[in-house]
Amino acid sequence: MALRRFRAPGRVNLMGDHTDYNEGFVLPMAIDRECVVTATRRDDGRVHARSRGETADVDAAGADEPSAVVPEWGRYIGGVVRALAARGRAPVGIDAEIESSVPAGSGLSSSAAFEVAVALALCDAGALTLEATEVARACQEAERLATGVPSGIMDQLVSVAGVAGAALLIDCRTLDVERVPLPDGIAVIAVHSGMPRTLETSAYAERRAACEAAARRLGLRALRDATLDQVSGDPLARHVVTEDARVLETAAALRDGDCERAGALFSASHASLRDDFRVSTPELDALVEELERAGAYGARLTGAGFGGAVVAICASDRAGEIGATAAAAYAGRMRRDPTVFVCIAVDGAGAIV
Ligand code: GLA
Repeated sequence: MALRRFRAPGRVNLMGDHTDYNEGFVLPMAIDRECVVTATRRDDGRVHARSRGETADVDAAGADEPSAVVPEWGRYIGGVVRALAARGRAPVGIDAEIESSVPAGSGLSSSAAFEVAVALALCDAGALTLEATEVARACQEAERLATGVPSGIMDQLVSVAGVAGAALLIDCRTLDVERVPLPDGIAVIAVHSGMPRTLETSAYAERRAACEAAARRLGLRALRDATLDQVSGDPLARHVVTEDARVLETAAALRDGDCERAGALFSASHASLRDDFRVSTPELDALVEELERAGAYGARLTGAGFGGAVVAICASDRAGEIGATAAAAYAGRMRRDPTVFVCIAVDGAGAIV
């Protein structure tokens, strides 16, 4: 079989964190940082993947326990292979070379990009055609199989379904996706705090379980269905309800080209993630402050929190200056080494022809 190449982007989430697994709304965009898999078919029923000089080798039918695959990144291969086997993929092996420009541990969904790119290569080799949402669901399941993290659907779905020049308004209950074009003259900046996400595994699962318990106490299927009155005394649930509203308001503000309004919603979201949902860190708080002080319309942590990155929106002709000023101020203040990414919204995953 000839060489085939597949790409899948990372993402930055503009609004709606810790809402996806509560069946709520999110507003992410796929970014110009991606994972690329170059694959050829093998006839011995093995999936043999190479990345940065290391090799992972798993059974193409999904017999190998994903969480036990070595090296560590190979767990994702094991997870994707098993999730696709459960969806009827023929156990055809591949040789795969994997490269990625999505920084790992940054909160920009390097693992979702990896899973989706590998899934496309495996589907192609095994002649399996899946709907976009089903590829995303398989990769979400792969993440859980690989790491035990009960993540939501956002990262994988935007990596599959992203649209150039737009964010996606996703209803995580129905998986309906609407594009929200970014207004002219706006730039999206992600800044990695230089702190990897350490607490992620335990605290993420803990927050999710607490949200599910809150919904059960209210007799609801998910916090998506709660009103503000019902959750006013419970900070975790209150974050979810107010954040869902902010997603819809941010989508409306961006459609109206009202960047000031969108920026104010970013600031309110960060405060809610910090004070109500308690997933921020002193570093993320400092970065948000410095970005706003440097002239961004607004900034907030993006993704799970506990480290990783923040996202800001600002006037596009000031993006370089605002990113550099904020990064320098943050580095001096917190003694950390930040990385600035001015992000372009790109199309979702696919074959490279
Ligand atoms: C991680 C998960 C997502 C989502 C975010 C928080 O990125 O993978 O599903 O829950 O955290 O919004």
